[in-house]
Amino acid sequence: LFSPVELAPRDPILGLNEAFNADTRANKVNLGVGVYCNEAGKVPLLRAVQAAEEARVAEHAARAYLPIDGLAPYDLAVQKLLFGADSALLDSGRLITAQALGGTGALKLGADFLYRLTDKRTVAISNPSWENHRALFEAAGYDVVNYTYFDPATNGLNLDGMLADLDALPEGSVVILHACCHNPTGVDLSLADWAKVIDVVGRRQLVPFLDIAYQGFGENLEDDAVAVRLFAESGLPFLVASSFSKSFSLYGERVGALTMVTASKEETAPVLSQLKRVIRTNYSNPPTHGAKVVAAVLTNPELYAQWEDELAEMRDRIRDMRAALVEKLRAAGVEQDVSFIQRQRGMFSFSGLSKDQVARLADEFGIYAVGSGRICVAALNTSNIDAVATAMAAVMKG
Ligand code: LMR
Repeated sequence: LFSPVELAPRDPILGLNEAFNADTRANKVNLGVGVYCNEAGKVPLLRAVQAAEEARVAEHAARAYLPIDGLAPYDLAVQKLLFGADSALLDSGRLITAQALGGTGALKLGADFLYRLTDKRTVAISNPSWENHRALFEAAGYDVVNYTYFDPATNGLNLDGMLADLDALPEGSVVILHACCHNPTGVDLSLADWAKVIDVVGRRQLVPFLDIAYQGFGENLEDDAVAVRLFAESGLPFLVASSFSKSFSLYGERVGALTMVTASKEETAPVLSQLKRVIRTNYSNPPTHGAKVVAAVLTNPELYAQWEDELAEMRDRIRDMRAALVEKLRAAGVEQDVSFIQRQRGMFSFSGLSKDQVARLADEFGIYAVGSGRICVAALNTSNIDAVATAMAAVMKG
């Protein structure tokens, strides 16, 4: 049975953890996977999370099944965070939210749901995009194409190219849009850019699927949701995959959600019923712990305020590391302009390092980055940044 099975390549992101763990050098640094580490190099347990967990453990709660679409207070809290606590959409009957297994799980639910719904088979992702977007949608049966996004000449956005490519997509194509903190480039759209994208998407009858895994890591929770809110104002139907892995530092709990905005409240019950079938035939219903903790924090004003402070701490530390990296690269003799590292938003910097340079970083210095040149700035700290800057400068200078 298993003899024809061929060895699959390592995952381009999570596979780096395996290579990193196997490296015996003491001064190795993992800038691969998108995980925030604090100044001590550790994945933090947020104080707000700890408080919610302690209260939950003290309850000694039984572990019944959750509903197929997840914990209702959690689903509502997700909607408030995405659309704003006073959004008219909340009472419109046009929102469906299902708890999902992280942002990836939400994308997969959306992919499977849309695949059953229509016979359109094109999904467009940005060039470049999160490595798993292509793999996930191809695995769900789609043809995945790229739309222009990053402009290497400016280290910024090629908006005209993006709009032209979206305009040329077959009607009904699904378009994956990074709502904030674009992964891997850290290059985001402005408000005016989003308005233009929404115009093309509406005119060409594309299916917008927003991926928001880093809300709070750009400016703040509200500003980072601007794309979601502009789509909401447009009246178009759309999907949103969201995640608390990063913002709550709950990576291993797989706490995410798929939200769908229907065109009218009449559409909502049938859509929810079909989404539940997708979930039930996949993993039945979601796990309890992470969603309970997140819901407890988001519905308690004190814990919410504490969480917002902790999120701001993470965001500010990443900004400091961006500034320090630019300074140290310059000090190490890098002459090319690296100021873009400070303009990029979120956890990543699209460093411009080539595949070969990334390979040299790992081989010669024990510093692991994604093959695309993406480095996780959120894994830098004052103890490892000098080594990283020196190594980067060495491979950049040839
Ligand atoms: C990343 O891009 O590193 C994260 O989103 C983690 C993952 O699942 O790839």
